[in-house]
Amino acid sequence: MKLPFLGGLTAQQFIREYWQKKPLLIRNAFPGFGGMLTPDELAGLACEADAQSRLVLHTRGKWKLETGPFEEQRFATLPDKGWSLLVQGVNHHLPEANALLQQFDFIPRTRLDDLMVSLAPDGGGVGPHFDSYDVFLLQGRGRRLWRTSEQQDLALVPDAPLRILKNFVIDEEWVLEPGDMLYLPPRLAHWGIAMGECMTWSVGFRAPSVQELATQFLVYLQDHIQLEGLYTDPDLQAQRHPALIGGQMVRRVREMLAGVRWNSDDIACFLGTYLTEPKAHIVFDPPRRLKLEKFRVRMRRDGILLDLRSQMLFYGDFIFINGDHVQQAGDTLQCLTALADHRAIPAGLGLPEPAVILLHQWYGAGYLQFPE
Ligand code: SIN
Ligand code: CO
Repeated sequence: MKLPFLGGLTAQQFIREYWQKKPLLIRNAFPGFGGMLTPDELAGLACEADAQSRLVLHTRGKWKLETGPFEEQRFATLPDKGWSLLVQGVNHHLPEANALLQQFDFIPRTRLDDLMVSLAPDGGGVGPHFDSYDVFLLQGRGRRLWRTSEQQDLALVPDAPLRILKNFVIDEEWVLEPGDMLYLPPRLAHWGIAMGECMTWSVGFRAPSVQELATQFLVYLQDHIQLEGLYTDPDLQAQRHPALIGGQMVRRVREMLAGVRWNSDDIACFLGTYLTEPKAHIVFDPPRRLKLEKFRVRMRRDGILLDLRSQMLFYGDFIFINGDHVQQAGDTLQCLTALADHRAIPAGLGLPEPAVILLHQWYGAGYLQFPE
């Protein structure tokens, strides 16, 4: 199916030709997109305790970084030029932003990070840099000049509080108007400069490092391995050095550790819990207690939604939600995988009892919400 916001490419064509490979500019990807937030509303979000926000300042050739949440007063004292406000996870606050993210469902959610919105006055931005992310940069209000570079020189300005490229050599540049979108693959150097007041919406896809995946997997494994027995050495050799770690012991422990095994289910369960684990600043608010009977009636009447901050994935008969997992079968499994895919269960469905019980528990934990 051709996707209009990919300039008429199908998801497959986009992935084959551009994803992780080269930039793509799509003019008028989202016609009329002015952004769903005003600059004041974005600044308001940056003042909320659970928003991850940053203010990047560039004055007299020096870069400065402040992290939120901010006092409202901070925005009244900003200079006219030389700054940019960045707010991560806007999809956790705004249903419309979450709906925008769902348009990018042609890329698996296992790769999705979040939606970041930036605001900058004329000339503002975060300087030339590269990211380890795939990103779709959607222009909201105003215009932005984007410069990209294929340069291999990724040396950074020393002692800057954020990663700024020391030598940026422009290869290409484009001016994005509201609704235009630029896809950039990871590690491609880029530099966005506001032309007048400008808001940019970035749909970011995370790419964990091999090191991070491996260390997190080892943490997971630690809680999930079950090895029997004790170290034994009936054939112990007397040694001249009592303090020496004997070669025999090293060989035997090596053999014992070779018993630490894992299969695809272990890897999938690790991925499911790791990828759905809420970020440290996210705290779910449990609602007022609702008895199972009332919950069932209300869900049938109104349907139910995943909370904007909830992350849900599945693998085979394993369902993962916000770092927890359950194993289900049959209709219940079907109902839960549909919830994971669509982030909603429509009204009017009679759900299997085990599904209702689970959903009731998740509702109690603040993972689900009734539609407003
Ligand atoms: C921005 O919106 O200013 C930053 C986006 C980026 O360069 O990754
Ligand atoms: Co960037």
